Amino acid sequence: MSTYQGLEVLFTREQIAERIKEMGKQITHDLEGEKLVMIGVLKGAAPFLADLARAVTVDTTFDFVAVSSYGKSNRTSGAVKLIKDLDEPIEGKNVLIVEDILDTGLTLTYLRKIFLQHHPKSLRIAALLDKPSRRIEKIEADYTGFSIPNLFVIGFGMDYAERYRNLPDICLMPPDAQ
Ligand code: IMP
Repeated sequence: MSTYQGLEVLFTREQIAERIKEMGKQITHDLEGEKLVMIGVLKGAAPFLADLARAVTVDTTFDFVAVSSYGKSNRTSGAVKLIKDLDEPIEGKNVLIVEDILDTGLTLTYLRKIFLQHHPKSLRIAALLDKPSRRIEKIEADYTGFSIPNLFVIGFGMDYAERYRNLPDICLMPPDAQ
């Protein structure tokens, strides 16, 4: 393992780029000849969406939503709220929700439910990271970058108290910083 600014790197930028390229090929294969709307979940998914969008060759547009973060203490309450809605209607469209981490599954379960109410043609999920051991809701991504154990990670869009989103690698949160 190498270090970046003293942080332990879990996935290097090269490993991330390689994996996103593969995910892009799979999505292109699955949506050949179709149009696609990628919906990024702000803010964490922004770098992933930017790279994933450039790794697909289907006709793709972007939209973004933001959800309220339920603080750590009330995670199990399932209280997820939409604080920025879609700009464009998704009815009849192929939708790909793009998220940084699938953790408890509360966020994506909520988003999937409200997006399905808009009757898209199809609805898929791409998550860069998956922490299956943390799941509260029964939900899986259609495209997963890396599956990881119950570790808190930062970088490549992912934050701790809004910091570290700009790290180019995915790093482990140092225990003394928490
Ligand atoms: P879920 O609703 O529990 O699946 O939460 C997903 C959201 O929690 C992600 O989009 C992240 O914003 C946040 N999250 C979960 N695990 C981590 C982590 O290890 N680092 C940074 N953010 C995380």
